[in-house]
Amino acid sequence: MLSFRTISSFVIYNAPGSQKAQRQMEVVQVLHMNKGAGVTSYAMNSAVQSKIISVTKPAIERAIKETLCSISWPVSMGIADLGCSSGPNALLVVTEILDAVFDTCCHLERSSPEFKVYLNDLFSNDFNNIFTSLPAFYRKQSQEKESGFGPCFILGAPGSFYGRLFPSNSLHFVHSSSSLHWLSQVPIGVEGRSLNKGKIYISKSSPQCVLDAYLSQFQNDFSFFLKSRSQEMVTGARMVLSFMARKDVDPTTPESCYQWELLAHALMTMVAQGVIEEEKVDLFDAPYYAPCIQELKLEIEKEGSFVMDWSDGYEIDWDDGADQMVTDESLAPLSSEERVARTIRAVVESMLESHFGGHIMDELFRRYAKLVGDHLSNTRTRYYNLVISLVKKA
Ligand SMILES: C[S@@+](CC[C@H](N)C(=O)[O-])C[C@H]1O[C@@H](n2cnc3c(N)ncnc32)[C@H](O)[C@@H]1O
Repeated sequence: MLSFRTISSFVIYNAPGSQKAQRQMEVVQVLHMNKGAGVTSYAMNSAVQSKIISVTKPAIERAIKETLCSISWPVSMGIADLGCSSGPNALLVVTEILDAVFDTCCHLERSSPEFKVYLNDLFSNDFNNIFTSLPAFYRKQSQEKESGFGPCFILGAPGSFYGRLFPSNSLHFVHSSSSLHWLSQVPIGVEGRSLNKGKIYISKSSPQCVLDAYLSQFQNDFSFFLKSRSQEMVTGARMVLSFMARKDVDPTTPESCYQWELLAHALMTMVAQGVIEEEKVDLFDAPYYAPCIQELKLEIEKEGSFVMDWSDGYEIDWDDGADQMVTDESLAPLSSEERVARTIRAVVESMLESHFGGHIMDELFRRYAKLVGDHLSNTRTRYYNLVISLVKKA
């Protein structure tokens, strides 16, 4: 019989009061996916991300198998999902990982380890939404896995993955999906300045200093992410990361920024009608970066703790994942543009609300849906996602 426990931890990640800690605190406090299970919640509007998780499944299976074949067999296996958010996807990932370990144990005729599964996200994440789904998850796991499968302890691990979260040498597998494109803060040099006029992310009209600041913030963050994980993972452990990226080295190509371009356009229509001030738009920049594979490789080599053993890129339609929403009757009759708008709203609303105020959100996303509809009627548009597998070096 499987047994499960849930506990949470507390992490201090930067000296309180330092400038960096304050800037990070802002992002940490304002960035969270829409909570609960209502019509605008992340739980009800994360079908695109769910699709991404299912596309990544073979990479997870392969990485787990290769890890267990190459490290000394763990009695207790440490697993972390970074940026788990709330809603069905968090436990979907855990299920996929446990299934992959189960299959590997059967294949190798080895006894199962016990599991410590850490679910990480920022402090303001709706962890309660996940924890209330645990009884059904436990039941399903108990029914599906044979009695010899080890006990599983689910642990909440709140804090930023740009810093230490776990004890040294405690992790054998790390996963993260649709999360690492979030930076730790609005890039230094851009934050609080009206440099990126009328835009909220990198755009064709952005000055070079904005592009440079975004790249530099990504480099610092990703390097710190790798350094933190390198202390927490055992030698030979693997990390499967999938996130929004771009194919082209040019960061202004539409595939990496057009969702932001249309959102900026929607905001500027509200500026034109005097609903919001132009300066407010000029002062908002998203703490987001979609890297290309060359930028990732460079940082991985420079940091030096990991080898990239595998990578793949794939495209997902903006309105993909509708087939994954069969149980979600409230979304079934929605048009493509409304689905896209709700998907984006569930992710970015908390940030926009804290800057522009909650009163404009319904109108903003109504305008956004209209612009998305116009765009999709002319152009089939896709997100580009990268999945990479990294092995911790000796
Ligand atoms: C779009 S959601 C993805 C959730 C889930 N992994 C999925 O695939 O559905 C991105 C998540 O990353 C989290 N996140 C962003 N930056 C983070 C950080 N520095 N540390 C931990 N979590 C972070 C956000 O709070 C959010 O819940």
